[in-house]
Amino acid sequence: MARKIIIDTDPGKDDAVAILLALAAPQELELLALVAVAGNVPLARTESNVRRVLELAGRPDIPVYAGCARPLVRPPITAEHVHGDTGLHGLDLPEPRMPLRPEHGVDYLINALCVASPGEITLCLLGPATNLAMALVKAPDIGPRIAEIVWMAGARSEGGNVTPAAEYNVHADPDAAKVLLDSGIPTTLLPLDLTHQVRLTDARLDRLRRIDTAAARAVAALYSNADGTALQGGLGGPLHDPCVIAHLLRPGLFTGRRINVAVETASPLTLGMTVADWSGVTDRPANAVFLNRADADGFFDLLFERLARLP
Ligand code: RIB
Ligand code: CA
Repeated sequence: MARKIIIDTDPGKDDAVAILLALAAPQELELLALVAVAGNVPLARTESNVRRVLELAGRPDIPVYAGCARPLVRPPITAEHVHGDTGLHGLDLPEPRMPLRPEHGVDYLINALCVASPGEITLCLLGPATNLAMALVKAPDIGPRIAEIVWMAGARSEGGNVTPAAEYNVHADPDAAKVLLDSGIPTTLLPLDLTHQVRLTDARLDRLRRIDTAAARAVAALYSNADGTALQGGLGGPLHDPCVIAHLLRPGLFTGRRINVAVETASPLTLGMTVADWSGVTDRPANAVFLNRADADGFFDLLFERLARLP
């Protein structure tokens, strides 16, 4: 029986790869819908990018909703310096033809969860947690209906990627992160400590380029410099968000510990910092599985094998 998932996302290069990986696992994952959120680039672009990626993969049948256009409290911060003005720098996809669904993404989440059986739907969050947090504030009863939140978020020993202390998805909406971490909903976090181990290096790009599918070519285009070399000076771009989907497909790829994770929502210096009690030095109750060790080769074996299955 395929696991029912909803992806909440801010494409975003790595989001696009995560969506492709989910689409390449129809036996294991039933992708009910995608909800776009403001994040790496503004909402008008993230929702369009979701539809563009679905059409690239030949799946215009999957519903796409637009969620929140800004964080719960703070002004938006974007990441064009990483993803480009389009959000998918390096990959030119045509304007989408499939329609955006008219219902607000937050209302879709509420309505989908209200009619679901308890524990039926897993929420895969690939960006700021604004939409789900707003849904939980508006309709708290949906919480027990969520099987699990699996979220690319946070950092501990790796430090931040948008400030020295904070990872982007949490820093962009720390108040939303607090709503989720305080919710009591089963939560698995995939932080930078994990995702920085999963890089599309030159050697892996060479392997990727031997896969003759549009999806594989799209990933190579997103993660190559103009001269074809790997991003970040050859170190290779980290595939943050695809780790969320890979965890669902092959849980043994990543390991970690169930601990307490808190989030800073006030300090200007450390706003969005995730404070992970890895050694259990506080009496704060465990509220998340914090994954910090990756089998990177196993991840890329999975990713490449699945990209070969797409059009
Ligand atoms: O910090 C990495 C996260 O921020 C990823 O989800 C990336 O897409 C950006 O949203
Ligand atoms: Ca993202």
